[in-house]
Amino acid sequence: MSLTRVPGLLFGGDYNPEQWPEEVWAEDVRLMAEAGVTMATVAVFAWSRLEPEPGAHDFAWLDRVLDLLHEHGVAADLATATATPPPWLVRDHPEVMPVDAQGVRLEFGSRQGYCPSSPVFREHAVRLAAAMATRYGGHPALAMWHVGNEYADHTLECFCPESARHFRAWLRARYGTVAALNTAWGTSCWGQHYTGFEQVEPPRKAPGPVNPGQLLDWRRFCSDALLELFAAERDTLREITPDIPVTTNFMSLLHGLDYWTWAAAEDLVSDDAYPDPADPGSHVAVALSYDLMRSLKRRPWLLLESAPSAVSWREVNAPKPPGMMRLHSLQAVAHGADGVMFFQWRQARYGPEKFHSAMLPHGGVHTRGWRDTLRLGADLRRLGEVAGTATRAEVALVFGWDSWWGLEAPESMPSNRLRLKELLLAWYAPLHARGIAVDLAPPDRDLSDYRVVIVPNLYLCTAEQAKALAAVTGELVVGPFSGVVDESDQVHDGGAPGPLRDLLGVAVDEFWPLPDGATQRVRHAGGGTGRARTWTEWLRPDDDVAVLARYEGGDLDGLPAVTRRGTATYVSCLLDDVTPVLDRVLGGVPAIGPPPGVEAVRRGRHLFLLNHTTAPQQVTLPYQGRDLLTDTDLRGVVRLAPRDAVVLRIEGDT
Ligand code: GAL
Repeated sequence: MSLTRVPGLLFGGDYNPEQWPEEVWAEDVRLMAEAGVTMATVAVFAWSRLEPEPGAHDFAWLDRVLDLLHEHGVAADLATATATPPPWLVRDHPEVMPVDAQGVRLEFGSRQGYCPSSPVFREHAVRLAAAMATRYGGHPALAMWHVGNEYADHTLECFCPESARHFRAWLRARYGTVAALNTAWGTSCWGQHYTGFEQVEPPRKAPGPVNPGQLLDWRRFCSDALLELFAAERDTLREITPDIPVTTNFMSLLHGLDYWTWAAAEDLVSDDAYPDPADPGSHVAVALSYDLMRSLKRRPWLLLESAPSAVSWREVNAPKPPGMMRLHSLQAVAHGADGVMFFQWRQARYGPEKFHSAMLPHGGVHTRGWRDTLRLGADLRRLGEVAGTATRAEVALVFGWDSWWGLEAPESMPSNRLRLKELLLAWYAPLHARGIAVDLAPPDRDLSDYRVVIVPNLYLCTAEQAKALAAVTGELVVGPFSGVVDESDQVHDGGAPGPLRDLLGVAVDEFWPLPDGATQRVRHAGGGTGRARTWTEWLRPDDDVAVLARYEGGDLDGLPAVTRRGTATYVSCLLDDVTPVLDRVLGGVPAIGPPPGVEAVRRGRHLFLLNHTTAPQQVTLPYQGRDLLTDTDLRGVVRLAPRDAVVLRIEGDT
């Protein structure tokens, strides 16, 4: 099933015609048609132009934009325009602006200036969404709804009195009684016992470390509060235009929002990804977030924003060298995207993003950028048959947001150096290098169809989650500092790994974090040594547990580092190289094994080979078939030019 009613792979970008005189629009749509653009994201920041005074709408200009797009074969990802409130709303209701943890109310003059809990903002946003849906529900250009924009980009949390009220209501719903809240938050520590919900406040700036239980619930609440705001608009849209899919653009692997929950609340997953062209490893990290996007709903997704070349918000904004825009776009498709879109269509002349690259650069149609746009449009047309196809992964990487929030809570951990993204990448990168498909999964999903389940870290692990992990039928690998606390951030009886104790057959006697720069030698049972950094543990294994690696030298000399009971492996440290563990657990999981720097990704009947290096590379094809990009038959050894790609339609039954 396709994501929208537009066939093939979507191609296009954010289009902000309100920043341009109307004479320019005709050229825009003519060039869009020339480039093969099929979708434009419109009106994201247009509230102040669509409703210049309270209740007075000016839709005429947007009518003409949508008509023009439609006449030129371009569908609209139409925003509800609520990503920035108009000046009159802020003037009439200053309380819609967010307040920071120090109590400072932020001012108008940028974007996303709203308190997620503000009933006034919500009411006005829903009203505008309803007006948009009523006006454009029947417009032939309308293909999908784009609610808000990158929730939590600038505004994740607000500490105003209204947010405090909302937080208390959320806590009441979660705990019922203040006694239950006291227990969950452990308020007997440091004298924080509450006698009524009205005494509870958001975790504003306090003299010392804030209660971690309170912080964890605050993270949950902030994700839920924004989700409520999104859902209010979504419900209105669904009521008026039930056949139009609703999305909001995610921000890759974002700490602030629990995308497992968010994805369930929208019709299709879309993402914005901005890997740094200056970082030679960024294609690996971005592949991980693309796999997350595909895994959120276990179906194709849409890359709704990416940069044609440089962005404008890093300290130094490196352009994408020739070939990279195309390569990165094909990479998204390889990982399940059913379309590639950009920020933005026409490069701005003013505003904070005037130096951000665009599909149509300042220099117009004589630029390298425009040639790249044309080339990519043509390539995506050639790949139309890939749209809608599924990825089959036999390996799952498990993580959950509340565990992430607990793990990275400030100030009260054995070490602040355990960062979830790094822990995920330590496993993902070597799998990716071998060309092994990986799904991401939440800890409570049924994991029985995976041959290998890897949990890089599950600091917060509930009894139910432990049950789900115990039900894994394939190989299970659990990383360090897992099973430490329950859903209230309270240490499990007997210490780590808590509810995973019997499954893994080990107890953690003491956490042994390493100072920055220090490493600890590890000797693998099969021979060979490796190094751990950042984190080690003093383990007490049960008698029937096999020791696969031991610490060598240092304080933990001779103690187990990696253990195994049945098919459950526990890795108590952050290994520099997890190859020995992977070699043991991967068994017959198919791996393509491309040369270093070449990414090999299967999607349905297609094999993507992506050369991320600046040198030519040779790959021995595991299958024969037709390269859709060059329309030639390939077999045996293929040569990939620097930053070039092959998309092979595999012949025969695989
Ligand atoms: C995104 C945002 C866009 C644009 C882009 C620039 O975060 O959604 O509106 O600002 O970044 O890279």
